[in-house]
Amino acid sequence: MPESVTVVDHPLVQHKLSLMREKGTSTAVFRQLLREITELLAYEVTRDMAMTVKRIDTPLESMDAPTLAGKKLALISILRAGNGMLDGVLELIPLARVGFIGLYRDETTLQPVQYYFKVPQGLDDRLVIVVDPMLATGNSSAAAVDLLKEAGATNIRFLCLLAAPEGVKRMSEAHPDVPIFTAAVDRGLNEKGYIMPGLGDAGDRMFGTK
Ligand code: URA
Repeated sequence: MPESVTVVDHPLVQHKLSLMREKGTSTAVFRQLLREITELLAYEVTRDMAMTVKRIDTPLESMDAPTLAGKKLALISILRAGNGMLDGVLELIPLARVGFIGLYRDETTLQPVQYYFKVPQGLDDRLVIVVDPMLATGNSSAAAVDLLKEAGATNIRFLCLLAAPEGVKRMSEAHPDVPIFTAAVDRGLNEKGYIMPGLGDAGDRMFGTK
């Protein structure tokens, strides 16, 4: 596995992921579990955020208290499944700025095509966390990161729930500077591009569509 990949093997993450994989898990529970796991993953992805100190007064005396440095981070959802991970991160970092990238796959070229792009200003000064639960082929993730770099982002991290080795390879070749955080790396993709054993279509499972 490339050095840029961190598999968050915390027991709570792994237990919740197993529940999400089960086909009988309801939409409501699936969504709740995704939110809970994302909180735990967000803890890891932000572990080395830049810090500074600020002079504060406790009820007893003054102290130099550690606080987050720099501009508020930008959280970017790749539509539509990325939206299921927004609340988990925002629970921990409520002041994060939020952006959205919509991509679809052109059926003839099989390449991702952008249909929506709305991101916070000043990406060059922010930690940018891209969320998408399933890193499958890696094509849309790599394209989303291309767009963010074109928009000025220089400090990007990719946060997903499940990854396929194919997606990890594609991302780490296209963007070796972008660390990937995931709860698991599964066996591989099937002929339809699903992660195996995976959990099915994450968007359908969280929104109750088919
Ligand atoms: N997207 C999904 O939702 N599931 C997969 O298995 C692969 C891509």
